[in-house]
Amino acid sequence: MRTFKVFLLVSLLLIFAFSFSAFAGEKRLVLYGSPAEKWVALVAHEFTKATGIPVDWTRRSSGETLAKIKAEMNNPQGDVWFGGTLDPHYEAALEGLLQPYPTSPMIPELRDWAKNPAIAYMVKGLYAGPLGWGVNVELLKSKGLPIPKVWEDLTKPCYKGLIGMANPNTSGTAFTTLSTILQLMGWEKGWDYLARLHKNIAVYTKSGAASGPMAGKGEIAISIIFLHDVVKFAEQGYPIVPIPPADGTGYEIGGLSIINWCPHPQVAKQFVDFVLRPDIQALAPKAESYQLPSNKKAPLPEVIRKYGVSFDDVKLIKYDFKWAGEHRKEIVDKWTKEIYSLPR
Ligand code: G6P
Repeated sequence: MRTFKVFLLVSLLLIFAFSFSAFAGEKRLVLYGSPAEKWVALVAHEFTKATGIPVDWTRRSSGETLAKIKAEMNNPQGDVWFGGTLDPHYEAALEGLLQPYPTSPMIPELRDWAKNPAIAYMVKGLYAGPLGWGVNVELLKSKGLPIPKVWEDLTKPCYKGLIGMANPNTSGTAFTTLSTILQLMGWEKGWDYLARLHKNIAVYTKSGAASGPMAGKGEIAISIIFLHDVVKFAEQGYPIVPIPPADGTGYEIGGLSIINWCPHPQVAKQFVDFVLRPDIQALAPKAESYQLPSNKKAPLPEVIRKYGVSFDDVKLIKYDFKWAGEHRKEIVDKWTKEIYSLPR
């Protein structure tokens, strides 16, 4: 009898321990982040501080994250894709890789462009920011070169070897550049322009913002990146100036998505609602992230107005996210085959 009681007790303890660990297993979040690492780390930390739920986070560029989610399609490992340009989020939504979350209580608080930027509430907008150039004005001056004004200027022979941008296979910033040019100039003229621009490119980086500090250090003179990233590097002391192209430019919406069949769906929803809160979005400048936040109650960081690169200051094209999301793969493949392979 005594042996039976001990057996029963041990069994109960094991059942308890097992259910506890299963419960503990549910209470974590696997976060794939695509904006600056510092911001991803900050939101992960804040979420754990507020809820006690641990977050395993990593940072990869937007195109790389899409590739990872595609590769894990049959056995999803990640829960939430936080930030990064919308176009690859859109492609993921089209391919059924994302889970809709139309019941988020935060939706009414969002600016219109952020409510449902991709089909069926699969992606929410987290932030937005215009594309432009980070220019080392002193370096150009020392070479007797003018500050470029319109996109066409970047293809002038005098800038050969002085421009940097990212590779659109990995970077959402770089894809936004290709898509902006094709939308601004049209398909034929746009591809012709991209081939001419390629001749002047000194370096293609993996991550979108990486050519900013290179321009700051004088390794190149012009970096094609988001203007809020130029502001960040300028504030850090790099001698670069944000220049919006005078003939118009595209912009990004930073996406926020739950991955389909993710391991921790409840925590994923909790995290999405958390990062859409105005007080959490207002923390982004602490991580030197100066995008326009998607919650109506979260203000645009002051520093963006100081540099004159808010959406009100920049001439924007009517960037078509649907077209960009639907054609992303085709455009990146064509660029890789027909432009990247050309000699510079
Ligand atoms: C920077 C910007 C973000 C943008 C991201 C895209 O971090 O601050 O606003 O979403 O780049 O990164 P990627 O490496 O994909 O171009």
